[in-house]
Amino acid sequence: MTQRFLRALINEASRPFAGGGHFAYRYSRGKLSSDSIFREILKRGLFPTNARYLDLGCGQGSLFAWLLAARKLYEAGNWPVDWPVPPKPQELRGIELMQKDVDRATRAFGIDHPVVHIEQGDMTQATFGRADVITILDALHYFDHASQRDVLKRIRAALPPGGLFLTRVGDASAGLPYHICNWVDHAVTFIRGHRLPRLYCRPLDEWIAMLEDLDFIVETDSMNEGKPFANVMLVCHLPK
Ligand SMILES: C[S@@+](CC[C@H](N)C(=O)[O-])C[C@H]1O[C@@H](n2cnc3c(N)ncnc32)[C@H](O)[C@@H]1O
Repeated sequence: MTQRFLRALINEASRPFAGGGHFAYRYSRGKLSSDSIFREILKRGLFPTNARYLDLGCGQGSLFAWLLAARKLYEAGNWPVDWPVPPKPQELRGIELMQKDVDRATRAFGIDHPVVHIEQGDMTQATFGRADVITILDALHYFDHASQRDVLKRIRAALPPGGLFLTRVGDASAGLPYHICNWVDHAVTFIRGHRLPRLYCRPLDEWIAMLEDLDFIVETDSMNEGKPFANVMLVCHLPK
């Protein structure tokens, strides 16, 4: 059941990208089927229902397509009995630096989508407004350490008590797996049509200390699914 269900979920989540060109479609399928964080978010019920979401560095909007597809399958009665009910997002707002990705997202969701709004912007400058859940998947290391600290501070200010910040970072203290991670990061960035960036990483302990300083209660989980990477998911809640 689960394999068939996952195939249906991946098909549904990548469908919006089918009209946006070969790259957008293949990228979403590859990403959603090989990156375990998408599956784990649903399987562990990490996201609340009826929430306002803000995804910073959202790329072409794969996470939003995933959440919408999950809800659609659930409402159609195609949902594993042992998985928690998937969220029904009130708002899915994304901020993405690269216009190419924003264009891919716009082709996938349209400009008048009732829930999804993806805008071009730099998260180190953009206004976050208010959100119940803020996510940054694999994007915090693209800007310098002072800006990272400022972004985290502004995320904290944008969340209500009990709000959730979910992120994934590379652990710079992990040795070889960390270097493999960075090499893959450069390769994927290049394939997606962007210039090779300088990366600003930190050891995991430093990320955790910085988040705890901001009052977050932090849970960590390695998120590599058998690959020799140093990726760690951080599930950070504010006290209620
Ligand atoms: C590795 S990709 C991950 C994309 C997306 N989060 C996902 O999981 O599919 C990192 C993304 O962060 C974006 N990014 C990097 N720096 C950014 C910034 N300062 N503001 C907004 N987006 C940024 C990149 O353009 C890229 O699309």
